[in-house]
Amino acid sequence: MLDYDEEANRYDATRGGEPRARAAADAVLALVPENAHTLLDLACGTGIVTRHLTREGLRPFGVDRAAAMLRGAAPRLSGAVCQADVRRLPFADDTFDAVSAVWLLHLLPDAAPVVAEAARVLRPGGVFVTTVDKAAAHLGGSDICALVAPHGRRRLADATARITQLAAEHGLHPHGSAGFTGHGQGRVPAKLAREVRAGRIYPKGGEDLAAHLEALPNQQTARPDPVYTVLAFSA
Ligand SMILES: C[S@@+](CC[C@H](N)C(=O)[O-])C[C@H]1O[C@@H](n2cnc3c(N)ncnc32)[C@H](O)[C@@H]1O
Repeated sequence: MLDYDEEANRYDATRGGEPRARAAADAVLALVPENAHTLLDLACGTGIVTRHLTREGLRPFGVDRAAAMLRGAAPRLSGAVCQADVRRLPFADDTFDAVSAVWLLHLLPDAAPVVAEAARVLRPGGVFVTTVDKAAAHLGGSDICALVAPHGRRRLADATARITQLAAEHGLHPHGSAGFTGHGQGRVPAKLAREVRAGRIYPKGGEDLAAHLEALPNQQTARPDPVYTVLAFSA
C-alpha cells in the first residue's frame, strides 16, 4: 500500500479532484436512507469525498489512520475526524445510521475486519456502502488494460462476491448499487510506465511491463475514465 502520509499533499490533485469526489459522494448518498442522521466515512483521507456526504439532517464523520491525510480532512469536516485503524474503530456498537468506505477495501489484504467493524458500529436498519471491484473498473478494454491485467493481484479483497459473503456473515444484506465515474483516472501510458519503473504500481511487472507501456501509441493521451461500482448492505 502507498504511504498515504507521503501521498497527502498530492492526493486530491491526482485522484480526480472535485469532479471525482462529487461523483463518488453522489453515488454513496443515493444508497443512504433519507432518515439517516449520522454517517461514518471509513478511510476518509483528505475528506474530499466525505465533505459531500451530507444533506439536510445528515452529518458525516471521518476516520483515517494517516495523520497527513486527516490534516486535510479536519477543516473540511469542521473537526469531525478521528485518527484510527478502521479495523479497530473507537466507537461503541450501534452508533451510526450509515457507514461508507470509498476506495478502501481494495487496499487491504483482507476486508473481513473492516466489514465486521462496519456491521458492529451500524445501528439496526443502518446501511454500509462501499466501493467494490476497483481493479475491474480499470480493466475496461483499453490497450493499457491488456498489458497490466496479468500483473494485478489475483485475490482481490474488494471483490463483490467476497464482500457480499462477509456482509452476510455479519447480518448485512444487499441493499442496492450505484456507480460513479473516476474523473481524471483514465490511465496515461507514459505516466503509468514511470510509476511501474518506480515500483509504485504493478511491481511484478517491472522493467518489461514499463517497456511495453512505453511502446504504446499516444503516450500522453489518457484512456477513458473508469466507472467504479458502489454496493450497499443493510443491517
Ligand atoms: C485511496 S485513499 C481513499 C481516501 C478517500 N476515501 C477518497 O476516496 O478520497 C485510501 C485511504 O485509506 C486509508 N487507510 C488505509 N488503510 C487504513 C486503515 N487500516 N485504517 C484507516 N485508514 C486506512 C489511507 O490512509 C488513505 O487515506
